Amino acid sequence: MGYFAKFLGISAALLMLSATVVGAEEKDPLKARVPADQMSDAKANKNPVAATPENIAKGKALYEGKGTCFNCHGKNGDGQGEAGKVLNPSPRDFTNCKFHKKRKDGELFWIIKNGSVGTGMISLTPAIISEEEAWTIINYERTFCKGE
Ligand code: HEC
Repeated sequence: MGYFAKFLGISAALLMLSATVVGAEEKDPLKARVPADQMSDAKANKNPVAATPENIAKGKALYEGKGTCFNCHGKNGDGQGEAGKVLNPSPRDFTNCKFHKKRKDGELFWIIKNGSVGTGMISLTPAIISEEEAWTIINYERTFCKGE
């Protein structure tokens, strides 16, 4: 093999390697995750926990503690938590306001309860947190969107 061909081969191998190590991305965050046949029920499932400052503070404590969410989604909600960095697809970036606009609370709740198939987002309710705690965390997750 000529030198140039070898160089090309090595560069291509390195590119592929870096793509697997640091190239993980979110799977389209605007695409629905709840299966179509359960979507209307999920959307109709309203958050019973009021988004008061007290409940949002409780949600933050759960997100950063018992719920373990921060490990993957990051303390600041950007999806860059230590455990999340190695996941492909990447955890949801909750600072993305477009994502929040697209989702009803009931859809987020459905994912916390059932997980998102084929991703690191496994079912966390009821194993790790109760239903009420899941709704409480959802109120906190909404606050990561700072803009429109
Ligand atoms: C082990 C890592 C991990 C942990 C811990 C984790 N998540 Fe996730 N989460 C993910 C990944 C990965 C995705 C992206 C899934 C996808 O693209 O479908 C995700 C996506 C989500 C979504 C977006 C679903 C949608 O509609 O697109 C919500 C909401 C969510 N997580 C909430 C939580 C909450 C609340 C907690 C804590 C109680 C939590 N996650 C803990 C990895 C994690």
